[in-house]
Amino acid sequence: MSYRSYSESKHALSSGNATPELPKRAASDYQRRPKPWWRRPAPLIWTFLLVAAVVAAAVLGAYYGIKNRVPNDGHQHKPLKLPSMGLATDAEGMREAGSFYTSSDSYKPKVFSWSDDGGVDLDATTSDLNGVDIVVNTSAVAQPMDGFGAAFTDSSCWLLFQLKQSNATNYEAVMDYFFNNRTGFSSIRVPIGSSDYSAQGIYTFADTNATITGGNSSLANFTIQDTRAYILPVLQDAVNRRPDLKIMLSTWTPPAWMKTSNNTNGGQLLYGQEPLYAEYLAKSYQALVRAGVTATSLTIQNEPTRGTETYPSSWLSASSEAAVAASLRTQLATMGYHPKIFVHDDNFSGWSRAVDAIKANTSDGVAWHCYNGNASQLDDFNAATAGMSHEAHLTECTTTDDSDNQWWSTKYWLSNFLFPTINRGVRSFMAWNIVLDKKSKPYIENAPCENCQGAFTLTSPNNFMDPAMWAGNAQFIVTYHFAAATANLTRLGGGAAYRVAADAGTQMPSLGTAGLGCLSGISTFAAPWNGTNLATSSQKRIGMVVQNDCSRRTAMISVDGRRGTFKFSSGLTTLILNA
Ligand SMILES: *[C@@H]1O[C@H](CO)[C@@H](O)[C@H](O)[C@H]1NC(C)=O
Ligand SMILES: *[C@@H]1O[C@H](CO)[C@@H](O)[C@H](O)[C@H]1NC(C)=O
Ligand SMILES: *[C@@H]1O[C@H](CO)[C@@H](O)[C@H](O)[C@H]1NC(C)=O
Ligand SMILES: *[C@@H]1O[C@H](CO)[C@@H](O)[C@H](O)[C@H]1NC(C)=O
Ligand SMILES: *[C@@H]1O[C@H](CO)[C@@H](O)[C@H](O)[C@H]1NC(C)=O
Ligand SMILES: *[C@@H]1O[C@H](CO)[C@@H](O)[C@H](O)[C@H]1NC(C)=O
Ligand SMILES: *[C@@H]1O[C@H](CO)[C@@H](O)[C@H](O)[C@H]1NC(C)=O
Ligand SMILES: *[C@@H]1O[C@H](CO)[C@@H](O)[C@H](O)[C@H]1NC(C)=O
Ligand SMILES: *[C@@H]1O[C@H](CO)[C@@H](O)[C@H](O)[C@H]1NC(C)=O
Ligand SMILES: *[C@@H]1O[C@H](CO)[C@@H](O)[C@H](O)[C@H]1NC(C)=O
Ligand SMILES: *[C@@H]1O[C@H](CO)[C@@H](O)[C@H](O)[C@H]1NC(C)=O
Ligand SMILES: *[C@@H]1O[C@H](CO)[C@@H](O)[C@H](O)[C@H]1NC(C)=O
Repeated sequence: MSYRSYSESKHALSSGNATPELPKRAASDYQRRPKPWWRRPAPLIWTFLLVAAVVAAAVLGAYYGIKNRVPNDGHQHKPLKLPSMGLATDAEGMREAGSFYTSSDSYKPKVFSWSDDGGVDLDATTSDLNGVDIVVNTSAVAQPMDGFGAAFTDSSCWLLFQLKQSNATNYEAVMDYFFNNRTGFSSIRVPIGSSDYSAQGIYTFADTNATITGGNSSLANFTIQDTRAYILPVLQDAVNRRPDLKIMLSTWTPPAWMKTSNNTNGGQLLYGQEPLYAEYLAKSYQALVRAGVTATSLTIQNEPTRGTETYPSSWLSASSEAAVAASLRTQLATMGYHPKIFVHDDNFSGWSRAVDAIKANTSDGVAWHCYNGNASQLDDFNAATAGMSHEAHLTECTTTDDSDNQWWSTKYWLSNFLFPTINRGVRSFMAWNIVLDKKSKPYIENAPCENCQGAFTLTSPNNFMDPAMWAGNAQFIVTYHFAAATANLTRLGGGAAYRVAADAGTQMPSLGTAGLGCLSGISTFAAPWNGTNLATSSQKRIGMVVQNDCSRRTAMISVDGRRGTFKFSSGLTTLILNA
């Protein structure tokens, strides 16, 4: 992965309406990080404020300690309570009209609360659109939604497995929450071998006794042994909870001996070894299926434009990537498997490389990362590939330090990543590590990011999350809103959710800002209740994600000609209604 810190641009956003300029850093910047603030010399005012804060904290701490009489047995036994936990996920629960809400208040944030009062009552059908703010037309259908989630890296699985061993009750609760059918993760990404987030260091599935001798190669020592201790157990627990979970596999590097560098880090695939690398990927897919983890898709190489000596990575040209994809498809089909294959798995700014990879016609689509460029470059990509059928997925994006202002970060994710990609046809969106600890660890030595946050922060087994941390975690907030809006109803006799048109009168907007004023971002989805066909279903579950930048605002909504009103509070609302 490569990272971009956007802390510098916070000021730009809070001091005006201009979209912040994203700091564009050279690759070397990631290896030469500035000292974190706590290691920089402190100006006097900070020292003073720090002392004042410590005194205040001590006074408050003593007060609450006395008030609550916390038993001092070495653990903080706070009951595990996650936002909107325990919502029913049967047909009745999934039909429940209401709204999920995240407030714009940074100091007393509502993270993801559910309310079933205040839904929308739709009146009889009318063609009158007078005064209607948002027009939803479920006949104007865009992409089906695969889902929202994050990556189950080696590091994340290790942390979750530690939790399972030390406090199984909390682990079960957390996993139930993560994979809840109503709001939880529907798409996850899993590395093949290590990435830069690996608790056990660097490895591939074929590290030893492998050779390429005069054109003869050996994958004899292929093994997924390194996944058995804690990665597979956690993934199996996920799949058991959510049999319809979409899993995407990605490699950070081919095995070292297949590369010019003879190293997992940097270098590239040896000339002519595309079929061998494809065999490695096919074997990886098969081994995981046999272990109970059936992936729905693979990418060929994580960030193929970024081979670096400091962590597992590899260069791969668009044409080599297309050749690997073709060979992989053939080898998987021989084994009886037909997952989807995606190329690029890289920056928006590399869109023209993605065009080259797609035009070879050997893949099912393109995977994007949010770190470099601008989501509007999907327009350039789409124009250059017009008429070709391909899927789009957002496979990696992460937050560095956003705990200080939850709403600022949430808005940043919404306006730069979520709305502009989803409203341009992206079918799934996955944040990077699902779980990291408070110090943004564990990561490998020389990892490119020392302050990237997991979507969840594991503090200690008996106090799973530090509310101050997770309350500020934009990745979690946006993922849960969009997941709730796009629930796939197949298990209940319905079908998958599709994005549908929602705007002030015009069809299929790119962003939906026209005429909506304060409501600066909207994505709307509809899923059929009766059968998988949205057009013929007698009832539809509508999920509408709306960002309101102003204070409470009443909006009139028309869904297929039936009107109703809803009061959007300031912040992010996901409205669920049945039409
Ligand atoms: C989620 O759906 C699956 C079927 O796809 C079912 O087996 C599981 O029990 C459901 N989970 C809950 C919590 O209802
Ligand atoms: C809804 O969308 C469909 C398909 O694009 C279109 O034919 C129809 O005219 C639209 N309805 C309205 C009321 O705009
Ligand atoms: C919806 O769920 C069904 C059943 O699990 C699955 O086959 C289908 O691919 C899902 N659709 C989407 C778009 O994710
Ligand atoms: C490659 O393997 C074949 C048999 O599998 C053998 O006949 C041939 O000598 C080997 N070539 C090299 C260069 O090792
Ligand atoms: C590599 O593994 C094969 C069995 O798969 C074995 O026959 C061979 O001796 C091993 N080579 C080395 C150098 O250990
Ligand atoms: C792996 O290679 C080692 C030698 O490097 C060999 O002893 C072992 O048998 C091989 N394992 C398999 C499964 O081929
Ligand atoms: C690759 O590296 C391994 C160990 O790091 C070494 O044993 C092997 O000889 C190297 N191979 C080549 C072709 O340099
Ligand atoms: C992706 O961004 C990195 C910098 O973060 C850059 O080095 C690389 O060239 C970019 N890739 C493409 C295809 O633009
Ligand atoms: C890919 O398919 C398009 C049409 O779908 C065709 O025009 C193009 O030549 C194909 N490219 C290759 C490399 O086969
Ligand atoms: C992305 O591009 C769009 C359209 O060109 C522009 O309006 C927006 O400001 C850009 N965003 C960033 C963060 O650069
Ligand atoms: C697990 O954590 C809960 C608090 O969330 C605590 O009540 C319970 O005692 C812990 N269990 C163990 C085995 O530590
Ligand atoms: C479901 O759709 C079928 C036709 O597709 C229809 O016959 C049936 O009555 C519908 N059921 C409900 C409950 O709407």
